[in-house]
Amino acid sequence: MELASTMKAIRYYNHGGPDVLRLEEVPVPNTGEGEVLVSVHGVGVNPGDWQIRSGFAGDRFELPYIPGWDVSGVVVSVDDNVTGFRPGDMVFGMTANSGGCAEYVAVPARHLVLMPGSIDFVEAAALPQSGFTAWHALFVQGKLEAGQTVLINGAAGGVGHLALQLARWKGANVIGTASARNEPFLRELGVDKFVDYAAALPTGITQSVDVVLDTVGGDNGDWLLDTLKPGGRLIPIAWGRYSSEKAAKASISVQEVQYPPIAAAYLEKFARLVDTGLIKVAIDSVFPLEETAKAHEKSESRRVRGKIVIRVR
Ligand SMILES: NC(=O)c1ccc[n+]([C@@H]2O[C@H](COP(=O)([O-])OP(=O)(O)OC[C@H]3O[C@@H](n4cnc5c(N)ncnc54)[C@H](OP(=O)(O)O)[C@@H]3O)[C@@H](O)[C@H]2O)c1
Repeated sequence: MELASTMKAIRYYNHGGPDVLRLEEVPVPNTGEGEVLVSVHGVGVNPGDWQIRSGFAGDRFELPYIPGWDVSGVVVSVDDNVTGFRPGDMVFGMTANSGGCAEYVAVPARHLVLMPGSIDFVEAAALPQSGFTAWHALFVQGKLEAGQTVLINGAAGGVGHLALQLARWKGANVIGTASARNEPFLRELGVDKFVDYAAALPTGITQSVDVVLDTVGGDNGDWLLDTLKPGGRLIPIAWGRYSSEKAAKASISVQEVQYPPIAAAYLEKFARLVDTGLIKVAIDSVFPLEETAKAHEKSESRRVRGKIVIRVR
């Protein structure tokens, strides 16, 4: 079947609120070297989407801009140099330069893997960036080992709920923070100690933690330093302020998450964990493409439990 030359996509021409997002008819992208054209079914929403839209990333991304980095869908065509994929394959992964909120997107083959049989397009689209961030922060930078204790600040969100399960899978003890309404959710995911961030800090966690993953950030990060053992590691994935004096005194390293571009090898590992039921992705809500603005608004509320996904088909 001949592919149409245009497609529906969400685009914006200026930074601003969710109202800048427009549903438009735009050209179907061409595939470049090493790329795969994917007919998009699901697009994962990340806070980065509305942060870029609001202008937090400045001029780094050219306008007009199609948001959406995490995608799942079906392969339509592959560049001559691509091996390992063919039309009709169900895939998921991450684009190199957003563009996911559209009927078609070109994705580097090295950022894609075949979808595991047991998960659907919505779950697959929810995984790439949040899972990669959690993995990298905990295991590569945090060097978390079995038997150690990790505190996940913001354990009910997109990154946090996957990090909680990855840490449990590794054999670590997990302390997770969230509001009281999320306690049953975190208990079901296997949290060892639940901390309601609106209540007083429970006793017994001072200097008991090996690694902190801070997904919340903000001005008041010093209490997280107090929970760490001397020599512990704090990995912020959101902007936060932590006393460098206090950290130095206890030989705590504070190192913002910094990761290489996503790789198929990681996606495959993660896909296996999900396929075998060791990790579950929680879906907060699903929106159709034309309601991408509502999906952004919901993400901006910072009250998401698990992940938001946009369903394109
Ligand atoms: N998603 C990614 O792949 C990624 C990658 C790199 C960096 N980041 C950054 O990391 C941060 C988190 O990302 P995310 O995708 O996990 O966000 P998210 O899904 O929007 O996080 C929402 C969660 O944050 C919790 N929360 C809000 N305030 C809290 C507080 N004071 N203490 C504890 N929990 C709190 C909420 O729990 P309650 O509803 O219970 O309050 C909610 O479950 C963002 O700043 C994002 O830009 C994300």
